[in-house]
Amino acid sequence: MVDPRISVISHRLSGISRIIAVSSGKGGVGKSMVATTLALTLAKSGYRVGLFDIDFTSPSTHIILGAQNVQPKEEKGLVPPTVHGLEYMSLIYFVGDNPAPLRGADVSNALIELLTVTQWGTLDFLVIDMPPGIGDAILDLVRLIKRIEFLIVTTPSLLAFETVKKQVALLCELKMPIIGVVENMKMDKAKGITGETGKLGLVYLGEIPFDPQVEDAIGDVAKLLNTAVGKKIRQIADSVILAKKRAP
Ligand SMILES: Nc1ncnc2c1ncn2[C@@H]1O[C@H](COP(=O)(O)OP(=O)(O)O)[C@@H](O)[C@H]1O
Ligand SMILES: [Mg+2]
Repeated sequence: MVDPRISVISHRLSGISRIIAVSSGKGGVGKSMVATTLALTLAKSGYRVGLFDIDFTSPSTHIILGAQNVQPKEEKGLVPPTVHGLEYMSLIYFVGDNPAPLRGADVSNALIELLTVTQWGTLDFLVIDMPPGIGDAILDLVRLIKRIEFLIVTTPSLLAFETVKKQVALLCELKMPIIGVVENMKMDKAKGITGETGKLGLVYLGEIPFDPQVEDAIGDVAKLLNTAVGKKIRQIADSVILAKKRAP
């Protein structure tokens, strides 16, 4: 049976120009850090931006933002609160600090529910912080939203890039556009990932240095935007703004 909520979703997202999923085959590579900083950077440049955390088992963006005591407003659905200039939505509003162990089908349901009820405003960008891997979240988003662009995060490690390759193969199969690959936590000048990215026919968007000061900037967005990570993401944001939707 067709889920009636699905037809509501495209209407809910109709005021959004570009939807960008920050994704990786692996956890711990910096997806949440990149997604949050990218969203903040775009907002600071004057764009209207939303941030949507759909890593339901380990949501992190609220911690990076230092988002406390905010709740969506009920008004023919849920209106996301504005946090540091971002329309911000996360399952965290509903589960708080409690663990939210969800089975596959429940994850899909929670995602569909949030997409169905959230009243996004008119946005230039909606940045989505993805869970790791090539599982349900990607398949659901592609099915439910379709016009999504992927920004892929890897570390310099070939272990991370191996999972990126799998993700890219899946996205190619699904004919989803990929903006490019960001190499995060760079500590040397090795060019391995640049080469591997080229071999996949993808754009290498740049490297973000490993910056120990990031830890101290968690929860303090002004500080975060001033770290080496924040500065580098400003350049990456320019490429994201210019990126044409390009199918792999
Ligand atoms: N460039 C960086 N330099 C230093 N620490 C980083 C950097 N990028 C991310 N981190 C830290 O690495 C950890 C994992 O990042 P996170 O964004 O939570 O990854 P993911 O969302 O992919 O699981 C966090 O503690 C984060 O603060
Ligand atoms: Mg994360």
